[in-house]
Amino acid sequence: MDNFHSADIVYFSGTGGTAKVAFALEKELIKKGITVNTYELNGKSKSESLGDLFILMFPVYAANAPKSIDEWVKAAPFGNDKKTAVISVSGGGEMIVNTACRVSTIKSLVKKGYDVFYEEMFVMPTNCFVSNSDELNGMLLDVLPRKADNAVQKIITGNVHRKKPLIIDRFISKIMLIEKHAAKLFGKHLAANALCSGCGLCAENCPRNNIIMQNQKPVFNGNCVICLKCVYACPQKAIIPKYFKSFTIKEGFDIDAIEEKAKNIIKYPPVKEAAKGFLYKGIREYLEEDY
Ligand SMILES: Cc1cc2nc3c(=O)[nH]c(=O)nc-3n(C[C@H](O)[C@H](O)[C@H](O)COP(=O)(O)O)c2cc1C
Repeated sequence: MDNFHSADIVYFSGTGGTAKVAFALEKELIKKGITVNTYELNGKSKSESLGDLFILMFPVYAANAPKSIDEWVKAAPFGNDKKTAVISVSGGGEMIVNTACRVSTIKSLVKKGYDVFYEEMFVMPTNCFVSNSDELNGMLLDVLPRKADNAVQKIITGNVHRKKPLIIDRFISKIMLIEKHAAKLFGKHLAANALCSGCGLCAENCPRNNIIMQNQKPVFNGNCVICLKCVYACPQKAIIPKYFKSFTIKEGFDIDAIEEKAKNIIKYPPVKEAAKGFLYKGIREYLEEDY
């Protein structure tokens, strides 16, 4: 067993799902007597990597990591063989295309001298296209502490736990890098409608510092990664995309509200019922390990 004394978690999170996973892992590491420093890549705080274990976490965006993670890795100091875990958080789980989502991040980290010995996929309620049922979201949140415990048990052994992505997924995930260009277009053409109260919350909270307030109206620039934080967190629901409209969930997305709702669920349905169909294969497999 590797003797880890301190860990640094660095994560990016748009709508809070990855943040919840980061804090679940932090809790389990602390239980094991490991000191943890957790940093969010929000364009405001600066992360440091001082511990003997490093965990990099990100939401899956179009079968890849968000640009904020690419930038962090590019600017990171040399790893000096630091034991490193890379954890992705997706809406769909370890299924077709997603299996290659950590490849380029791991490759860049290894090039920089990080010893990436562990990788894992967590699943959280999805924040795009259509929402899951309340029951399915409830199950994903219910299982999180157990998944975090399991991951930490494996991480502290220091044993290699790496996954082999499908070749086809590696290929498709490369093509899907086009999403990073689409993000610029998406971000630049967001606009606040007449409902905007000029509160400035979107500008304050944008993890890319992509929004500035001018004459009490937000102005959007080309540094967007489509994290959707501004769209979903706007109190007036005033921020509307011009392009890729159907990408956002019509009723909105609030992970804390989803969590509150889940507390009222008395009994969960069988996994096969809650996560039916091909698109839910990754979620089904994720949940079946624990239910
Ligand atoms: C731009 C974008 C692209 C996404 N692409 C994928 C994807 O390729 N596969 C997937 O399973 N989920 C995808 N998702 C869903 C997110 O990975 C998922 O909801 C995640 O939990 C969001 O994390 P966050 O709340 O920390 O931002 C995408 C979400 C966004 C906003």
